Amino acid sequence: MCGVVGYVGHRECSSLLLEGLRCLEYRGYDSAGVACVDASGISVVKSVGKVATLKEKVAERPPQGRTGIAHTRWATHGGITEANAHPHTDMRRRVALVHNGIIENYQTLRAFLEREGVRFSSETDSEVLAQLIGYHYDGNLYEAVCKSLEVVEGTFGLIVMAADQPDLLVGARRGSPLVLAIGENENLLASDVQALVAYTDRVVFLKDDEVVNITPREYKIRGLDRAPHAAEIEKIEVALESLEKGDFPHYMLKEIFEQPKSLHDTMRGRLNLSEGTPVLGGIANVRDIFKNAEKLVITACGTSWHAGLIGRYVLEEWTRIPVEVEYASEFRYRNPILSPRTPVIFISQSGETADTLAALREARMKNAPCLGICNVVGSSIPRATDAGIYTHAGPEIGVASTKAFTAQVAVLVMMAAWLARQRGMSLGRGREILSALIEIPEQIKKITAQSDRIKEIAETFKDEHHCLCLGRGVQFPVALEGALKLKEISYIHAEGYPAAEMKHGPIALIEKGMPVIVIATRDVTYEKIGGNIQEIKARGGSVIAVVGEGDKDIAEMADHLIEVPNVMPELAPLLTVVPLQLLAYHLAVLRGCDVDQPRNLAKSVTVE
Ligand code: G6P
Repeated sequence: MCGVVGYVGHRECSSLLLEGLRCLEYRGYDSAGVACVDASGISVVKSVGKVATLKEKVAERPPQGRTGIAHTRWATHGGITEANAHPHTDMRRRVALVHNGIIENYQTLRAFLEREGVRFSSETDSEVLAQLIGYHYDGNLYEAVCKSLEVVEGTFGLIVMAADQPDLLVGARRGSPLVLAIGENENLLASDVQALVAYTDRVVFLKDDEVVNITPREYKIRGLDRAPHAAEIEKIEVALESLEKGDFPHYMLKEIFEQPKSLHDTMRGRLNLSEGTPVLGGIANVRDIFKNAEKLVITACGTSWHAGLIGRYVLEEWTRIPVEVEYASEFRYRNPILSPRTPVIFISQSGETADTLAALREARMKNAPCLGICNVVGSSIPRATDAGIYTHAGPEIGVASTKAFTAQVAVLVMMAAWLARQRGMSLGRGREILSALIEIPEQIKKITAQSDRIKEIAETFKDEHHCLCLGRGVQFPVALEGALKLKEISYIHAEGYPAAEMKHGPIALIEKGMPVIVIATRDVTYEKIGGNIQEIKARGGSVIAVVGEGDKDIAEMADHLIEVPNVMPELAPLLTVVPLQLLAYHLAVLRGCDVDQPRNLAKSVTVE
């Protein structure tokens, strides 16, 4: 969702800020803007649509200054218009602000300011904050920001500058991320490190209710209570090339093809074959909490929730501990039954999803141990949990999650094997699982090698409007994930269903030629799924079957066949999801969709 970036230093900064916005594009947005300040004051350029459009506008009339702020906006309050785009200024253009988050009491604050004679020029909650800071500003920007934030309810990752102090930025966060980057005679702030890595590797992840003043040579972090805070400087290791598309036409395709490597990175140093157990340093300290757990709870959103459903299947199968999986947004409002013996696992690629963070606060309140499975190092969820495991899939830029999903599943499988070994699983079985995991990256290469053939299958149903995705057991969440991928990027209405449930409703939708994707690898439900396929064929549906290599029975019934290597059922989702990712990708391209930035979606959903 919204991305913010700010610069104060020795360079003319409008193009640098635009480059920062380009690195934040993946978060999802619908308008953008930039403002710079110099001795002549604040100049602002905004546009609806892509950063490329903003760039063209800036080229005509570049805002001047060595201090500036910029923003990509994902509309919440107020339509997608130039007036609603950030940066916002106060009425007298004495301050300008970019804001990520939501001001919940904006109506009360707006009414107050209007009574004080303030005139508004947008419908946004963020402008209220700009106006409020302007209202309080008397030459001390830090004080004006603190005074304003003291009365604000909601979330913010914000950067402000003042017309009469062209060498100063003030940033603050609560709930939305903000990272300070420390350079040579220049300092920056941004929503995430991807916008910063080109300038420095020294960063400080600001904490909630911290406010930072930055000038070209100095930074000062304080609390909203004005108390000085120490800066915990961290060295970030993000390879710049990992942020580029390379030879691939889209990030999503690059990330699908990267899965052999990303999974290798996820498992690197974590598989002790001789002991038949994964070694998970991040949760070693909470080993007893896990071992003695009454039940495990997994909570997440979107694709991460699907990984959680697969985790439940594998954890229950191997550890015999009951596992609940719930959408974070529901979990939070349901008064869940938790205790110190019910560890809650929060799965999140970004580590910033607002609903997952809110669920974490709820679990804390109820004294449950909180554990994270996250991809973005240093993000909010790993910081707020007691222990956890990073997925180490590398930066994921495509909005539709692919390599982060397989990394989450691999971590859950490792966690299940680790716990099962402590609860009685044999050495032999442990070794069998680990040996099978080691093979997965090479097996995925056999699937990505079929990309062109999968594209041919996509051609056959590129004009369809509806699709069903079916699977059973551990493949049911894969069917959900396949359907989600189709919805997200190709805008085909797709439903994921347990294959046998089809008879209780979705079968009514099947008519001649309707595509039905069926995951039918060999496990206990294989024969039954064969029956389900017959039912689809009898009604004229067109079956795209994902089967194990060498399959004969289903091969005879299906219209299209995609083979994946044969593996133990609990690991099969790591393979069967890959053709579904590729199918969704090719369909989206054939349908002319914006694969990496699908309409209305955001990579990092920082509002509830
Ligand atoms: C958004 C993204 C999805 C992602 C979900 C949860 O909807 O578009 O790809 O699965 O958020 O995000 P998280 O970062 O918590 O995994």
